Amino acid sequence: MKNTQLTALVTGAVKGIGKAITYKLIHEGYFVIMVDVDKAAGLELESENKGLCVFRSCNISKEAEVKEVFSFIAGTYGNLDLLVNNAGIIKDNLIWNMAAEDFDSVVDINLKGTWLMCKEAAGLMKNQQKGRIVNIASRAWLGNKGQSNYSASKAGIIGLTRVLALELGKYNVCVNAIAPGLIDTPLTRGLRKDVLEGLIAAQPTKSIGQPSDIANAVAFLGSYSTGFITGQTLYVDGGKSIGSNLSS
Ligand SMILES: NC(=O)c1ccc[n+]([C@@H]2O[C@H](COP(=O)([O-])OP(=O)(O)OC[C@H]3O[C@@H](n4cnc5c(N)ncnc54)[C@H](O)[C@@H]3O)[C@@H](O)[C@H]2O)c1
Repeated sequence: MKNTQLTALVTGAVKGIGKAITYKLIHEGYFVIMVDVDKAAGLELESENKGLCVFRSCNISKEAEVKEVFSFIAGTYGNLDLLVNNAGIIKDNLIWNMAAEDFDSVVDINLKGTWLMCKEAAGLMKNQQKGRIVNIASRAWLGNKGQSNYSASKAGIIGLTRVLALELGKYNVCVNAIAPGLIDTPLTRGLRKDVLEGLIAAQPTKSIGQPSDIANAVAFLGSYSTGFITGQTLYVDGGKSIGSNLSS
């Protein structure tokens, strides 16, 4: 890594949307610290992109593991320009069928994990008097049947984003959220063909988003050229959040 190079930490960095974010940020000139629980995929990505990124195995819902990542960053690079909280899981069910453990695990990873990452980054960025945080929420925070745990966790991320924008604004740290809609990842590719077709038909754009759509939005909100945008949620969802009941 060069001395003057920008640094970014991406969680859930080695698959799906996170992998697209990692590649986009490398392309934009960042050195990327990739965090994920998938060690095999992480080490493979690191060796394919030698000198451009590094992998750290970390479960973001475990405070000790998050702290270890930040002491590695402080000791090795000294600074962090951008934190992208992307890691997230789903465990869908209608509430009367949902196990309390499935509420706990989704909230633990999606919301508490994001909070733990933000807490460590906030201390570092406040001291360096600059930084950007981009939290990946979801359009589902508006409400999706079968996602009471997931929607609650993503709504929490939007509240967290707004509070951190207030707390960190005067330190030149901007904090924003992105709410993706239907994105073409292994997760959505696993849906039944007719279900997926129905979801695409309900989109104003009649299309499914690509991971690169989210990565491009991250690069914009994560850049130092956007110092007057903070506490906002950017929907990248083909217009689905507008809410009109389109029939054609
Ligand atoms: N795919 C979509 O249509 C869609 C829509 C809206 C929001 N999102 C959000 O975008 C983000 C990425 O979604 P995706 O579809 O790429 O998911 P994905 O399952 O393909 O990738 C998620 C990554 O997070 C990692 N991860 C899971 N738990 C972790 C933990 N505890 N600690 C560290 N890493 C962990 C996984 O190993 C994986 O690499 C998630 O937050 C998701 O909620 C996705």
